Amino acid sequence: MKAVVIRTFGDPGGMEVVDVPAPVPAPGQLRIATEAIGVGGVDAVIRRGTLAAYGFREGHVLGSEVAGRVAAVGEGVDTSWIGRRVWAFTGLSGGYAEQAVAAVEDVLALPDDLTGADAVTLGGSGVVAHFALERARFTPGETVLVRGAAGSIGITAVQLAARRGASAVAVTTSSVDRGTRLRDLGATHVLDRTGEGGPDTPLGFDVVIDVVGGPQLPLFLDKLNPNGRFVAVGVVGGQPPADFGMRLMDAFRKSLSFATFSSDTVPGPDRQSVRSSQFADAAHGDLRTVVHEVLPLDQAALAHHRMDAGEVFGRIVLAP
Ligand SMILES: NC(=O)c1ccc[n+]([C@@H]2O[C@H](COP(=O)([O-])OP(=O)(O)OC[C@H]3O[C@@H](n4cnc5c(N)ncnc54)[C@H](OP(=O)(O)O)[C@@H]3O)[C@@H](O)[C@H]2O)c1
Repeated sequence: MKAVVIRTFGDPGGMEVVDVPAPVPAPGQLRIATEAIGVGGVDAVIRRGTLAAYGFREGHVLGSEVAGRVAAVGEGVDTSWIGRRVWAFTGLSGGYAEQAVAAVEDVLALPDDLTGADAVTLGGSGVVAHFALERARFTPGETVLVRGAAGSIGITAVQLAARRGASAVAVTTSSVDRGTRLRDLGATHVLDRTGEGGPDTPLGFDVVIDVVGGPQLPLFLDKLNPNGRFVAVGVVGGQPPADFGMRLMDAFRKSLSFATFSSDTVPGPDRQSVRSSQFADAAHGDLRTVVHEVLPLDQAALAHHRMDAGEVFGRIVLAP
């Protein structure tokens, strides 16, 4: 089968399409003939070599999220899975391939009317958006700011906050065109990356969901209302300054909360239950997914170039 490996860590040119044997599903695993492969921010981080200390080596097959048809099952897995269309989390490897394996608990049957591209756009990120709002103890009527809203986590968070009755849903984004698209998804106020918006922008927010992190994170702590909750879910802009916590201490009398949130801490069955209901919502058109572009698997390097250039609104999907 065809797979994309990292020959050399660094820029996307270090990725290569190779022919390798199809993986054999171990006990408890299924093998999926892929029809759609999600290209996520974490793939770019691994490709650059940033996580080499975590054991990623050259020769690694990227990719953590696929959709397709079950082709084979390992020992202990019900054979009725064979032939079913599924979404699957493959861990931090193995997705950029014509065949991928996943543990049965990380596999979910797909509704007939949900495309594979939509499933890999929503599958991982929708759960992050859902539980981040839950972690923020968001309640209807509150104001929400989604920082870094143009990615698939933000796009879902905007829709969920709007649908659940936020009194305002502000977003940060880098262009007017993206702002317009985010308004169409439920945003009520569009701010630039530094948090500047129009004169009607709320002075403060009850909840901030932050995909960005980076040096400007403290500016957004300042935007919390008294009793406001800030939930950091990503670091696409890098790590925040080491002393950012002083900003919270300086605002002691506002009773602010800061949390990090990783969906790894949510029990697997809870993730699958939310994912399943989001897939049903997406199939009915109640939740929108934004597929930036579908590219052939052998153009994975181009997909990474586009991500690195900041061109992607939503998610790029690869198709074998
Ligand atoms: N917490 C979890 O459980 C979990 C799970 C999966 C992934 N993640 C993390 O989530 C992040 C990826 O999420 P995603 O795919 O939704 O995001 P993304 O598409 O990679 O980025 C979202 C948006 O952030 C803005 N942005 C990018 N760089 C920026 C910068 N330097 N400063 C300010 N804004 C910037 C861009 O929009 P504009 O150009 O419009 O500003 C971009 O479209 C990664 O950090 C990943 O590790 C977390």
